Amino acid sequence: MNEPVPYLDLRAQMAPLRKEIDAAIARTLDNCSFCLGPDVVQFEKDFARFCEAEHCVAFNSGTSALHVALLLLNVGPGDEVISTPSTFVATSWAISYVGARPVYVDTDDATFCLRPDLIEKAITKKTKAVLPVHLYGHPVDLDPILAICRKHNLPLVEDAAQAHGAKYKGKVVGTFGVMSGFSFYPGKNLGAYGEGGALVTNDTALAARARSLREHGSTQRYYHDEVGFNYRMEGIQGAVLGVKLKHLEAWTRERRRVAHRYHELLKGTPLQLPYEAPYAESAYHLYVVRHPDRDNLKKHLEANKVGCALHYPLPLHLQKCYAHLGYKAGDFPASEKAARECLSLPIYPEMTDAQVVRTAEVVKQFFT
Ligand SMILES: Cc1ncc(COP(=O)(O)O)c(C=O)c1O
Repeated sequence: MNEPVPYLDLRAQMAPLRKEIDAAIARTLDNCSFCLGPDVVQFEKDFARFCEAEHCVAFNSGTSALHVALLLLNVGPGDEVISTPSTFVATSWAISYVGARPVYVDTDDATFCLRPDLIEKAITKKTKAVLPVHLYGHPVDLDPILAICRKHNLPLVEDAAQAHGAKYKGKVVGTFGVMSGFSFYPGKNLGAYGEGGALVTNDTALAARARSLREHGSTQRYYHDEVGFNYRMEGIQGAVLGVKLKHLEAWTRERRRVAHRYHELLKGTPLQLPYEAPYAESAYHLYVVRHPDRDNLKKHLEANKVGCALHYPLPLHLQKCYAHLGYKAGDFPASEKAARECLSLPIYPEMTDAQVVRTAEVVKQFFT
């Protein structure tokens, strides 16, 4: 009876696409186009269209895309970038890699995204950019952030690693800022079969320099205009992503089906359920609930073979790697509370209704 519910099931997504993916990979092998190549070029065009953007530059990871985005804005040592402590650490890696300092601003209790009303107080003469995250697939409240950016002449870079196809006021995220970074890590809403990422922008000059920086700072082989990186996307990943992108809109609809079903089944429990702001259409990368007794709820789910995960157990300002920033416990109460209380339930497009019902049932048992 009660079958285990995996937290994530990448096999279920791969199975119906397997023939098409095998053929796409075979084509890449036949072409010997292992680094960049025609499949990556085609994917860049298709993903730019998906984001309603002029340019997509494919990278070997979301982290490298964000790194290059900050480099392109000439953010460097001595500079500050305003960002969120509630995210995967790679958001802040981008800031650290260019030698700048992350300056954190606390998050909203309902959406877990950076709070626009706290940004202005954090701006100093050293602030060079604002880097919010569309966390768990829910867009950050962009309009007030853009207004502050305009007022202080600061560029906005979106960390859209978890938010492919999420909409803010009806428009897909990714071009509200001057650039955005996407991740195609396998578990993402659009996942490669390995590492992958993209920088998306409407700015032609930035896109051109991003292409050069990802390829050893060169536009012509063996001529290097500036110190660059090997941040190229692999040909096979471009081929896989090209196949998968055609399904992304349908997959997002399925994620939203699962989320709505959870809402229905879990309302009335003591859990705080994910909030979708009126301006937002979440891509539901994760379905994150919250409860003060989170750790025991997690144990209960695991004991009943229902997968779950923590995103994220320790906010960035309290990570050992960022001890030198001088933050302490209590500095960002909402983010710290989220880290203590949040629990991610299984969500993926292929989840059956029976799996959603079973998960909700086990959650409810905890409270009876
Ligand atoms: C919010 C966020 N930013 C950045 C990244 C970095 O992406 P990648 O793992 O592709 O380097 C990720 C994903 O891992 C992420 O979730």
